[in-house]
Amino acid sequence: MDLHLSGKTAIVTGGSAGIGLACCKTLYMEGTRIVLAAHEGVDSAAESIRQQADGQRNDEVIPVQVDLSQADQAEAVVQTAIEKTGRVDILVNCAGAARAGAFLELTDQDFLDAWTLKLLGYIRMIKAVIPQMKQQKDGRIINIVGAAAKTPSATFLTGSTANAALVNFTRGISKELAPLHIRINAISPAPTETERARRLAEQTAEARGVSLEKVMEESTKSIPIGRMIKPEEIAALAAFLVSDLAASITGAEILIDGGLTPGV
Ligand SMILES: NC(=O)c1ccc[n+]([C@@H]2O[C@H](COP(=O)([O-])OP(=O)(O)OC[C@H]3O[C@@H](n4cnc5c(N)ncnc54)[C@H](OP(=O)(O)O)[C@@H]3O)[C@@H](O)[C@H]2O)c1
Repeated sequence: MDLHLSGKTAIVTGGSAGIGLACCKTLYMEGTRIVLAAHEGVDSAAESIRQQADGQRNDEVIPVQVDLSQADQAEAVVQTAIEKTGRVDILVNCAGAARAGAFLELTDQDFLDAWTLKLLGYIRMIKAVIPQMKQQKDGRIINIVGAAAKTPSATFLTGSTANAALVNFTRGISKELAPLHIRINAISPAPTETERARRLAEQTAEARGVSLEKVMEESTKSIPIGRMIKPEEIAALAAFLVSDLAASITGAEILIDGGLTPGV
């Protein structure tokens, strides 16, 4: 399937690791220029993306080191993308770091940190790309949210509340963006094989007073397909959703959860 993404510019936040890095690699191999925005490790992540094309397209990966929990950083990322590539066609919002923990142990600050980076961080990025996408009369936005939006767990309420709000936001703003030819969709994965999933499992084990192995085993068993999701599977859906093949899909939340979500 040719996704016709060649020559487009994609901003991927949280592109230095896990799901974001997988999205960068997949979109890059589809011919997209990548503006990779993350906190640390942006240069080594950029290098690992470039290696896929044997160094033929080195200047098409632009690393930007930012702290997206800071209010002014979203605008700075978008300005860099415009300065270096002249356009912004795609935004993949993926920077998140909500911590797990027992509710009575979590502080206001833990909730605020999760909401500031993920909920407000995604919203700020969307606000920052809209003027350019509006001018181009074309834009495609993906929010990597999480299955916890629909199926919250008692030890991950910082993240699941941010996720639920993001699904609500995605659907709500899609109505305003559609006449501007900007599509926006959410992808909600179940536990996915990344460093972050391991950190969350460690925090959950501590909150429940059980071993890490027990949490990992329970987590895997709870997924009907019997394994965690792979970051590349999420990247593949993101690439499809930002292509013209998905031209009528907007305001949707699509689960990649191996059958985990119990409700309709
Ligand atoms: N893994 C899962 O099981 C899972 C399931 C559902 C949803 N999700 C969601 O998917 C997204 C990515 O998760 P992941 O598992 O791929 O996580 P990850 O491997 O920890 O990667 C997170 C990315 O976000 C960046 N980041 C963190 N804090 C940042 C900040 N203040 N400013 C800019 N960038 C920052 C990280 O950069 P640095 O490392 O450089 O700080 C990294 O590139 C998150 O929103 C997460 O909630 C994950």
